[in-house]
Amino acid sequence: MVWDYYNGKILFITGGTGVIGTALLYRLLTQSAPKRVYVLSRGGYSNAKAKWSSLMPAHFAKVLYDSKCIKVMDGELGDTATMNLSDVDLQMLKRTVHIIIHAGATMEVTNSLRELSYKIIAPTLCLTQYALKFANLERFVFLSTAYANAHLWKTSKSTDVPVKERVYPLGDESEDRPYRTAPEIWKNVQKTGSSDEYDTHDFPWPYAYALHLSERLVLEKAAQKNLLNKILIIRPSVIGPADHSPYPGFTTSHPTPSTACAAAYALHPGRKIMLSSRCPNPDQEVTIDEVPVDVVADRLLVHVALGSSGCVHAVSGEKGRLRIEDWWHAFKSERRLPWSVKPVWTSEDWHSANLHHMARDFKIIGTSFAFSDEKTDALVKKISAEDCEKLILYADRSKPYHHSMVHQRHHIHNAARSLAKKTRWPVCSVRFLCRKGPSPLQMNHVNEKAVK
Ligand SMILES: NC(=O)c1ccc[n+]([C@@H]2O[C@H](COP(=O)([O-])OP(=O)(O)OC[C@H]3O[C@@H](n4cnc5c(N)ncnc54)[C@H](OP(=O)(O)O)[C@@H]3O)[C@@H](O)[C@H]2O)c1
Repeated sequence: MVWDYYNGKILFITGGTGVIGTALLYRLLTQSAPKRVYVLSRGGYSNAKAKWSSLMPAHFAKVLYDSKCIKVMDGELGDTATMNLSDVDLQMLKRTVHIIIHAGATMEVTNSLRELSYKIIAPTLCLTQYALKFANLERFVFLSTAYANAHLWKTSKSTDVPVKERVYPLGDESEDRPYRTAPEIWKNVQKTGSSDEYDTHDFPWPYAYALHLSERLVLEKAAQKNLLNKILIIRPSVIGPADHSPYPGFTTSHPTPSTACAAAYALHPGRKIMLSSRCPNPDQEVTIDEVPVDVVADRLLVHVALGSSGCVHAVSGEKGRLRIEDWWHAFKSERRLPWSVKPVWTSEDWHSANLHHMARDFKIIGTSFAFSDEKTDALVKKISAEDCEKLILYADRSKPYHHSMVHQRHHIHNAARSLAKKTRWPVCSVRFLCRKGPSPLQMNHVNEKAVK
């Protein structure tokens, strides 16, 4: 059994109170018997309990906050490896931990590169350096993003850009060690807040480049110590509601491209929304890769258990991604204004001021990436059919996308309220313009049995 790998293991997790961290902790604790899971959280146990309780109904959250196996450590990632933990705790982690999962980071995609240097790059590098000293380390997992390579949209002419599970060098580094120059580039980013490679490549947001550089720094540190085989980089695409675990519809409370766009388009008073794409038939060719959060959790946990290393996509991929046409179709029933709205496509650049503000913010709307799943396809061949049946390694697209959007209704409504406040619309009008769904805490009726 794949899950047996975790029995008796000691794990250290950052970001264990975020949506991905919560999904994977839940899966880990309900499927296997680790000896101990240390969860780093700013504000310690009370913050972690409050966050789990805000994400899930109590009978699911309890699995985590009542667990004897989880120990929440009050600490914070920063530009030193100490994480505000005591020396005794740091030494204990170093001696005992087998698996580190680093999922703690800001999701502010439009923060400047300088801000992200403090919030993402430096903490990741410090944690990597520290982790590589752990006596019993079996795997260090870093959560990056599939969009760390979104600059490829601009360097390729294809209307469906293939992205492999590897590092794409930004300079003239050799293909076999494309991360070699990362430490030098990092010094420059620290000094100037930018780098030549960042200035010459058109990343959709500083966040995408920050993760591209972080990936290379992690790999270069490991290569210097000859420990590349211990590094696993998981690259999720856009997080969507869970298909199965902890329960169907479990999702993030942060706005995602899908919820933020649905909210903005629901409030849009006009009939047309200006979007940009170079695809000749955007409605059919533009795609969105939204991955159920439980697919991310299972891919991560199974790849660790089976000893994978390097970069692995946690995506819906070519088999499960959505055409924008299907997204619009699902969105139609969320908007309450009596006239419909539809996209009007232009070939202007993704930065163009003429585009709808959502298209300018998210940029990837209007693109299509074919993220490879090859490593997961290969992994599945190593697992027994019986095990495979119980794993959630691929998005379930047997139901129309409308089901997924219904699960996001509460968050779409909240995003619409925030947008109304920002744009000085009367907030009370939102309930007439956009449907309201049950909050995560009202989902008590949903699959209570799934806890068992
Ligand atoms: N959500 C997505 O669509 C998506 C897509 C691709 C990749 N990812 C990547 O996956 C990872 C996890 O994403 P997520 O969606 O689960 O994020 P999330 O829901 O925003 O949670 C992130 C968690 O990180 C922790 N954190 C943030 N800054 C911290 C700091 N300075 N020190 C310690 N902990 C800190 C927070 O925990 P506390 O408040 O408890 O400290 C928070 O619960 C991130 O690295 C993200 O870049 C996410």
